[in-house]
Amino acid sequence: MKTETLDRLRSRISGIDAMPAIPIILRPLLRCLDQPAEQIDVNRIVELVSYDKSIAAQCVRMANSALFGRSHPVESIRTAVLNLGMWRVRDLLFSNSLSQVIPANRWVVDPSVFWRHSLGCALVCRRFAEIIGYPDTEKAYLAGLLHDIGVLVNCMIVPNEFRATVEKAYREHIPMDEAEQATLGFTHSDSGRILAEAWKITPDLVQAIELHHEIGDPERGGPLVALVHLSDLLCRLRDLGYGYYEPRQIDFANEPGWLYLVMQFPNLAELDLARFTFTLDEYAKEVGELVSTVFAA
Ligand SMILES: [Fe+2]
Ligand SMILES: [Fe+2]
Repeated sequence: MKTETLDRLRSRISGIDAMPAIPIILRPLLRCLDQPAEQIDVNRIVELVSYDKSIAAQCVRMANSALFGRSHPVESIRTAVLNLGMWRVRDLLFSNSLSQVIPANRWVVDPSVFWRHSLGCALVCRRFAEIIGYPDTEKAYLAGLLHDIGVLVNCMIVPNEFRATVEKAYREHIPMDEAEQATLGFTHSDSGRILAEAWKITPDLVQAIELHHEIGDPERGGPLVALVHLSDLLCRLRDLGYGYYEPRQIDFANEPGWLYLVMQFPNLAELDLARFTFTLDEYAKEVGELVSTVFAA
């Protein structure tokens, strides 16, 4: 995006009171999770869960759901957290706190569809990262989860124009960013970057948010951007998109992001992409369970 357009958008956003505030637990949560899995402090996670009654209730409800098939009901938050496992609790915390970023009546896209896509992308991105041997799989997860936060900004700053944009994308079956560029003159990648900077999210995640649709020279964004770009495409092809059909044929073998990752992580060339895409259907089930837990509240 041109610097002048970005500056104009930045001043437009800063002039609006409705700029989404960072959810209260997000920063401590990011801090707590920004370390190797074995060093994550369970007590701190239990504490964060306890801050919010509705999240605590969701953890208990999910731990008691058919998915876990327990014979005795779970009643304490700590037992629920331990039963669910750190990563499921983390998913609940993120999706819950981020879904509170904008009021229920300000959503232009269906929030459950938005979270289905974001969580789906996060899972795919992490799995992709594991497969290729990318060292920070949790960073990949976060990048996938946050990549479309610009959609939240658009809902807040230009609700009417954004509604027309979403309708155009649905009607014409075109990618959301293409419709945004045509109607708004900027995309959720641009507004997402501004929000991520305002929230002081780490620069590598800001870059993943900004460049996930236009990776340009893959060297610039590095593996994280390429991972998010490809995971987003895969999700949109496999029923984890924005709830409408995008008739596209993607030649992954010639995608710049794919070619770049193969160069950096040669074992990617071994991946059976067709088989991998089928595993996304399992993710769709897992994500569906999580989203229904959050939105049943
Ligand atoms: Fe996007
Ligand atoms: Fe996306």
